[in-house]
Amino acid sequence: MLELATDKVHDETRQGEAFAPFLSDPIAYRKRFYIESYGCAMNFADSEVVASILNKEGFGATRNVEEADLIFVNTCSIREKAEQTVRKRLTEFRKLKKNKPGTLVGVLGCMAERLKSKFLEEEKLVDIVVGPDAYRALPGLVEEAASGQKAINVLLSRDETYADISPIRLNSNGISAFVSIMRGCNNMCSFCVVPFTRGRERSRDADSIIHECRELFENGYREVTLLGQNVDSYYYTGDGSDHADTVTFARLLERVALISPLLRVRFSTSHPKDITDEVLHTIARHDNICKYIHLPVQSGSTRILQMMNRTYTREWYMAKVDRIRELLPGCGISSDIIAGFCTETEEDHHETLSIMEFSNYDYSYMFFYSERPGTLAQRRYEDDVSEEIKKRRLAEIVEMQNRLSLESNKKDIGKTFEILIEGDSKKSDKDWMGRSSQGKVVVFPKENFNLEKGDYVMVRANDCTQGTLLGTIVE
Ligand code: 5AD
Ligand code: SF4
Repeated sequence: MLELATDKVHDETRQGEAFAPFLSDPIAYRKRFYIESYGCAMNFADSEVVASILNKEGFGATRNVEEADLIFVNTCSIREKAEQTVRKRLTEFRKLKKNKPGTLVGVLGCMAERLKSKFLEEEKLVDIVVGPDAYRALPGLVEEAASGQKAINVLLSRDETYADISPIRLNSNGISAFVSIMRGCNNMCSFCVVPFTRGRERSRDADSIIHECRELFENGYREVTLLGQNVDSYYYTGDGSDHADTVTFARLLERVALISPLLRVRFSTSHPKDITDEVLHTIARHDNICKYIHLPVQSGSTRILQMMNRTYTREWYMAKVDRIRELLPGCGISSDIIAGFCTETEEDHHETLSIMEFSNYDYSYMFFYSERPGTLAQRRYEDDVSEEIKKRRLAEIVEMQNRLSLESNKKDIGKTFEILIEGDSKKSDKDWMGRSSQGKVVVFPKENFNLEKGDYVMVRANDCTQGTLLGTIVE
């Protein structure tokens, strides 16, 4: 169930994942760093940028935290639980520091940005605090901390996109990669801490994106996921002197798709208010742009949507889903849903359940509302739905999604899909695992075909579980 979409927002199976070391790296490094990541795909992509910055300065990655001289945690603030997980993890590093004096612990990412120097006061073992726009300063901060001072840089930037940094792909299957195309968010959804932790929206130089994607393709990658908090508002104007240079998200998608028909293109996340017909037409025109859209609804009630500052109504969202179905028949759609936002009634909750049914989501990321300090909702509204009710409503939402996911998979039985092979299935090296354009995980026997990961193959679905289609290769 959790493995449906590659471009998932929060991949639970990856939380706390540590980087793999370079397998056959001949360089003798002066220091070893260990980095563990939490939160969204953007954060995992940022860790790859951090690895690149550190590597240039002579630091080598290790997966073994005990041999690390530098321990980094790239953190998430989106819900309270994400922060608690990080705090707990930090206490485990205390022992390591005791056994190996001189080991430095650095906190990166959204929690560093939210708490700033408070982090150094609250967690005595932390030596370095770095916000998401200050990673270029990391080598200097490490030096500062090594001399015994606490080091901090949480400045947000209006233009940092790390465009020129080639991320180091670790823990990658060698087939699919994330490519960050923009940073920050200007939307101000009232529940969300992101505008405060990641700053203003800015788009990365289009040429640098194309260059990175082309290089990935030349190195054997077959799928890129273009990442941003709000990809549809991507807008790159170069130096602003020539309007002909302006690149919208639709144009960017097209340019990436034109690198090669063998390179699949995905993207995440879309705000329903910003995804345009032009983007939908672009998806329709190119077979290699995946027919899958992550379109977070958050709530099905217009009143709640208004309080969330989502800027669309229930009807407007439903019309958008209809438009997607019209222009892109068979397109996969997934969503993010929050249960128990401030003042939510049973009626509002039922509107959420019914919009899920209407939209027929293939998958959803479902959460109960967690009040975040400093957000508009925290300042304006009372967090007045009890935990018990939030949990019960969330359970009903999860149950609804489980039914929709199973129904969606059942409808695919008998159909044939083009699958990009990602590797062996988890359960058996006699089976391949790959994905359809719609993002569904498909498992099928290798048989005697001479295939490799990264190949495309036609597979007919014969059976399914809630999270996986089971099939056989069609010759
Ligand atoms: N509480 C619960 N869920 C939240 N999200 C963002 N902020 C909160 C919060 N305060 C969810 C939204 C968003 C996803 C990334 O996380 O659904 O789309
Ligand atoms: Fe990603 Fe938001 Fe979490 Fe930051 S707070 S890691 S942007 S999900």
